[in-house]
Amino acid sequence: MSMQDELNAIQMQVMQDLATAETMDALEQLRVQVLGKKGSLTTIMRMMGKIDPSDRPAMGKLANTVRATVDEALSERRLELAKIAMQKRMEAEASDVTLPGRRLSQGTQHLISQIREEIEDIFCGMGYIVADGPYVETTYYNFTALNAPENHPSRSAKDSFYIVDNAPEGKKPLQLGDSDVLLRTQTSGMQVHYMEENKPPIYMICPGTVFRPDTPDANHLPQFTQVEGLVVDEGITFGDLKGTLDYFTREIFGKDRATRYRPHFFPFTEPSCEVDVSCGVCHGKGCRFCKNTGWLEILGCGMVDPNVFKYVGIDSEKYTGFAFGIGVERVAALRYDLPDLRMLMEGDMRFLRQF
Ligand code: DAH
Repeated sequence: MSMQDELNAIQMQVMQDLATAETMDALEQLRVQVLGKKGSLTTIMRMMGKIDPSDRPAMGKLANTVRATVDEALSERRLELAKIAMQKRMEAEASDVTLPGRRLSQGTQHLISQIREEIEDIFCGMGYIVADGPYVETTYYNFTALNAPENHPSRSAKDSFYIVDNAPEGKKPLQLGDSDVLLRTQTSGMQVHYMEENKPPIYMICPGTVFRPDTPDANHLPQFTQVEGLVVDEGITFGDLKGTLDYFTREIFGKDRATRYRPHFFPFTEPSCEVDVSCGVCHGKGCRFCKNTGWLEILGCGMVDPNVFKYVGIDSEKYTGFAFGIGVERVAALRYDLPDLRMLMEGDMRFLRQF
């Protein structure tokens, strides 16, 4: 076969093969077969030196044309394959933009936040200021300045979450005094903070989270919410306390719920009492929900102990005051007859959406 025939044959063969090359890999193989170092066209061009010099210009020209044609055909096919691949991908990944979008569920304000805000509104209406306090406290604010003796059981590591830098070695139980930093067990420490920084008259509430090492059950949570209240002014009496808390309970529970004041002990108030609200399930007759008593406890309160005033430098001859601590989860449970406080922690939207 003459060189001319061979060149024409190569070109024809390439054109045929190109039409059936379906992938980039096949295309590359074809390129190497023809234009690679040992490719058919390369081999022929190397033989150019061996032919008759008079034929060389014509053969050289033809070889170059074939090469350019092959090159161009390869590029064209490459573009075509890329286009086909893109087309396939677009079909595979196509999305129907006319479909309706997915709805984001918006959530609702948690029941506890709702009730906390409602309590804030009630006291703001009576001229109180809403204060905020730290979750991590020292024993001074959580106990000592609240007149709790050094050996008070609530100080023990069984009743308080202490924060320790150096956890005691081995299994040695935490001893009283190993740490004086803890997660606050009550919001009452804010009474001390607030009186250190503000002079009477004081009308303050402080809502917030408190922590106790309790195993969760129907009536207990290891983390819950209190609203502390503090009033310090001239001539404040137990009558003011009762009038204020009666007003509060009527506002939050409605007028048909009765309240009762039961004597109790708290280190930082004297006298002290716990306030119960009549059971909404049995209306005072006694049922499982109220453990057959007809009443449910919602807050502790009392007249500020003069010893507490001493810690913050307020003259107890001139000023008197009262304080209270409302359990917000208890209020929620009472108002909606919740059978189990744990429902408030579980984040089940079927439950939470009802409020
Ligand atoms: N801090 C108390 C508790 O957690 C509740 C309490 C009782 C707060 C009496 C008060 C108060 O301010 O006067 O059980």
